[in-house]
Amino acid sequence: MTSASAPGKVILFGEHAVVSGAKALGAAIDLRAKVTIRDTPGSTMIEACDLCLRGFSLDLNTLQVVSAEAVHATRYVSAVLNEFDARNLRVMIESDIPLASGLGSSAAIVVAATAALNRHLDLGLSQKDIADRAHRIEKAVQEGLGSPTDTALATHGGYLQVSSQVLPLDLPGMNMVVGYTNQSHDTRSEVAKVQSLKARYPDLVDPIFQAIGAVSARAVPLIRDQKLRELGELMNVNHGLLEAIGVGTRELAELVYAARGAGGAFGAKLTGAGGGGCMIALPTPHGFAALITALRQARGTAFAVKTGCEGVKVERDQA
Ligand code: PMV
Repeated sequence: MTSASAPGKVILFGEHAVVSGAKALGAAIDLRAKVTIRDTPGSTMIEACDLCLRGFSLDLNTLQVVSAEAVHATRYVSAVLNEFDARNLRVMIESDIPLASGLGSSAAIVVAATAALNRHLDLGLSQKDIADRAHRIEKAVQEGLGSPTDTALATHGGYLQVSSQVLPLDLPGMNMVVGYTNQSHDTRSEVAKVQSLKARYPDLVDPIFQAIGAVSARAVPLIRDQKLRELGELMNVNHGLLEAIGVGTRELAELVYAARGAGGAFGAKLTGAGGGGCMIALPTPHGFAALITALRQARGTAFAVKTGCEGVKVERDQA
């Protein structure tokens, strides 16, 4: 039996602009997905019993579909199994990352499954191979454009600056608060919507992407020096730019304004593709409780996360 776990992530700055080559800054967080593999001669099964969802299992031999959520979660793992032509295994997925919410759940599942399979079948993949293969697999399943941000963070952990290349950054961990709108989102359609806007209005969207890239670059020394007030200001600027390209929603805006108002946050922005999903807020040193209360009063699900956490690790490896 082999288990591997990988972290979820928040995009601190630069989502969408990164798809067109601008800088983004992301951080791994302390929510994880875990994949456990056992040999089961004669059958190949994928099970998921704790995905912030009802339990389910999918028998790949009969392909019985149990629920839409089951298909969503298991199609990433079955893509990993297909990639390595792996059969006669029972694969168990556990995750505390909300699905399709902008926190990198699918990347964490793909990376954990690839790393577990790598160890279980002795495939000899390096960390970089795992990140590259996982990115390809995730994008093939989503059939869309996309940056390597989520899969690189799930693999390497910490903080990464992503543009044409992926650069690890040595920055201190931060305590942040996530507000989930309780609405899942579809990364592929949000990315396609923004790219279509860019194709129709390049004179407007290109400078917005440039400004987003500049915000991402300016954020790095602020995190290094823990200048949280200024960092919060940049989060507010980035949120406004994301609103301008049409990925905000009323529910996200309500959480963002609740965080900045009653929540007293230094700053708040949506995180990930938008169109639903999550926002993040940067609390003042003694402002955690007020911020969580403000987000819950605005009908969000609020929880604290730490940034800069460890990447994929093989957790157990037993005969
Ligand atoms: O919402 P998520 O976690 O799928 O993040 C999407 C981030 C985008 O920049 C919108 C797309 C990408 O591939 O970078």
